[in-house]
Amino acid sequence: MILTVPTQAFTGQKPGTSGLRKKVVIFQQPHYVENFIQSVFDVVADKVGATLVIGGDGRFLNREVIQIAIRMAAANGVGRVVVGRGGILSTPAASHLIRQRGAIGGLILSASHNPGGPTEDFGIKYNIANGGSAPEQVTDAIYARTTTIDRWLTVEAADIDLDSNDEASVGGMPVEVVDPVADYAALMETLFDFAAIRAAGLTMAFDAMHAVTGPYAIEIFENRLGFAPGTVRNGTPLPDFGGHHPDPNLVHAHALHATMMAPDAPDFGAASDGDGDRNLIIGRGLFVTPSDSLAMLAANAHLAPGYAEGLKGIARSMPTSAAADRVAARLGVPLYETPTGWKFFGNLLDAGMATICGEESAGTGSDHVREKDGVWAVLLWLTILARRRQSLAAIARGHWATYGRNYYARHDYEGVDSAKTDALVADLRAKLAALPGQRFGDLVVETADDFAYTDPTDGSVSEHQGIRILFVGGSRVVFRLSGTGTSGATLRVYLERFEPDTIDGETGAMLATIVAAADAIARIERHTGRAAPDVVT
Ligand code: G6P
Ligand code: ZN
Repeated sequence: MILTVPTQAFTGQKPGTSGLRKKVVIFQQPHYVENFIQSVFDVVADKVGATLVIGGDGRFLNREVIQIAIRMAAANGVGRVVVGRGGILSTPAASHLIRQRGAIGGLILSASHNPGGPTEDFGIKYNIANGGSAPEQVTDAIYARTTTIDRWLTVEAADIDLDSNDEASVGGMPVEVVDPVADYAALMETLFDFAAIRAAGLTMAFDAMHAVTGPYAIEIFENRLGFAPGTVRNGTPLPDFGGHHPDPNLVHAHALHATMMAPDAPDFGAASDGDGDRNLIIGRGLFVTPSDSLAMLAANAHLAPGYAEGLKGIARSMPTSAAADRVAARLGVPLYETPTGWKFFGNLLDAGMATICGEESAGTGSDHVREKDGVWAVLLWLTILARRRQSLAAIARGHWATYGRNYYARHDYEGVDSAKTDALVADLRAKLAALPGQRFGDLVVETADDFAYTDPTDGSVSEHQGIRILFVGGSRVVFRLSGTGTSGATLRVYLERFEPDTIDGETGAMLATIVAAADAIARIERHTGRAAPDVVT
């Protein structure tokens, strides 16, 4: 029996860089979740009889929203739902499951690295049949539907037991509860030589941040690769992530950082975020920036069986440093520079134009799924350490000696009034044409633009993707507003200095002139009233 429930549209149900993300209290308004999910179903063609994957990162509201989504799927004619046991599916595991099952798509319930709990954030993201986040045409259509929606569909049925092993039936639709880890772990075994990693006898600290990667990391690192029990820290997913931000950066993973800087540090340290797609990489005594990690992984990927035949191409988001560009040039493969947002890699991966992709926001991944993948990045790093039998620090120094070093940092100004950041950006745009040739300290502007991307596979154009100021010699500053925040605006300033020979500098000192130029060009303090960034990563 299908029930049609009348409703009224909410304003502001516009998916951002990565799905609809709001405070939990917003999602708790009657009809709010249902309106959004119904808008997804109203937009997705061919759903009748199809398979749909559902899972989330375990945060507060995860289980409740899964039950709602299952009933609505049944009412909308979906043929079968595959859901992770306990409501758990990491974002990369969901991406794999969608592809493996030939599903029409998936609903991933997560606000990624944002905090969770009754007063924090929740999110709903729709992924399409290739396993990747819905592209803008789809999210725009979903948003348009949210503005006119006047009814949603459900069936009268009890909650299913998300912790069982049995197949359930909801309104006549079969619901399969699957082990969230098994298929993903099997995929990893096809890409990496687990026996070789195991034989290397490496030591590691992995911080799952009480988020979704805990069960994946315990099974793969401790059970299958033989790392000592306790290698995985904070391995139990909690609805509030233990009160922390599940954001794997030096601020929120400071305990891991301290472990890795101690004299008795293990060989390798890593962390992943709320939904398991981001990664933080730290060697003994050395933090590796995500941009450098991408370059070093690309340069060494052939050491893993899954990439032994080489790379078809490398893709990075525009604000990510150009370190990977030098690797691509040496390998003789194309380098693609896309706007921020993993979804822009999807077409390149589908077309077989790129194999490895990465972003400064701690995302790295490959064509094995259509999302970035934290555990995958750890496995590729472990492969490199095992095969090269060198420390991570030695590998990094060797890399910089070969390619030069891109010193890099990101300064974030959080929770700024959006009128102020809009004015800053408008001001910057107005002066772009006059910047080339201008001198700031020892830096001379070579070009300045408002980044636009033409997708080489379908010709679609994405404009206003961040303001780039490129200096003579390969240094750069980029200004961009975050697309993932849930309160106010966040200004991100990406700072990069290329040094072909000086590889032992201290990042802060090496970037000082770039920071000064960024401030002079954008007048950050004058516009935002902030004398210093809130977060430096
Ligand atoms: C999400 C996406 C990433 C993207 C990031 C940008 O995590 O999955 O692909 O890089 O958002 O976040 P921002 O806050 O800078 O828009
Ligand atoms: Zn994430």
